[in-house]
Amino acid sequence: MRHITAADITAFEKVYRLNFVNGLPGFKPANLVGTAAPDGRTNLAIFSSVLHLGSDPAVLGMVTRPTTVPRHTYQNIKDNGGAYTLNHVPLGLVAQAHYTSANFEDVSEFEACGFTADFRDGFPAPYVAESPLSIGLRLREEHPIFNGTVLLVGTVEHVYLREEALRPDGTLDLVALAEAAISGLDGYHEVRPPVRFGYARPGQFPQPL
Ligand SMILES: Cc1cc2nc3c(=O)[nH]c(=O)nc-3n(C[C@H](O)[C@H](O)[C@H](O)COP(=O)(O)O)c2cc1C
Repeated sequence: MRHITAADITAFEKVYRLNFVNGLPGFKPANLVGTAAPDGRTNLAIFSSVLHLGSDPAVLGMVTRPTTVPRHTYQNIKDNGGAYTLNHVPLGLVAQAHYTSANFEDVSEFEACGFTADFRDGFPAPYVAESPLSIGLRLREEHPIFNGTVLLVGTVEHVYLREEALRPDGTLDLVALAEAAISGLDGYHEVRPPVRFGYARPGQFPQPL
């Protein structure tokens, strides 16, 4: 087993370190974050840092990189009433989704990367029409992290999903939606159906459902 220490990581060449550390969390979700500036200009960016923070109320977090350089996603959320959307990425769209991470200046990533901005039910941030599962959120809190990144905490206001994604017990069949998972900074994966065990209890070794 190879042993790598904090000192080793600090000494890594920059891109090597970026690749290495971005792989440490394991597989991550693939979401496109949709926002709009107050003048209506739209923005779309791939984020892999989305996480569950609570179910009642429904709260999701995501981490934005240091805002020392302009971050359109963060700025739009702040300027547009805290509204943003998360849009799951299906396997067929991973190239376009990855392309949204390029540094587009004066053109919307919706247009540049081949996605359709879809404004639904009066919500001020655009959804991705091509996504099989989309969520409308409102920024509730932001927590600065010591390294300059910011944890954005949002409450879920709307969910749109294809009918076949919703199982009778409320779990989501993300494989039925052919959703991709992410590893590192540029790996997109096909996911196989899960083994499910239900709620774990002491004295009952988990059995597949
Ligand atoms: C696979 C992948 C995952 C990413 N995840 C995040 C993330 O979680 N947070 C973030 O701030 N940027 C993330 N990025 C970078 C953004 O997509 C990129 O900075 C984008 O240009 C931001 O656009 P904006 O300036 O319009 O907000 C990721 C990029 C890739 C390729």
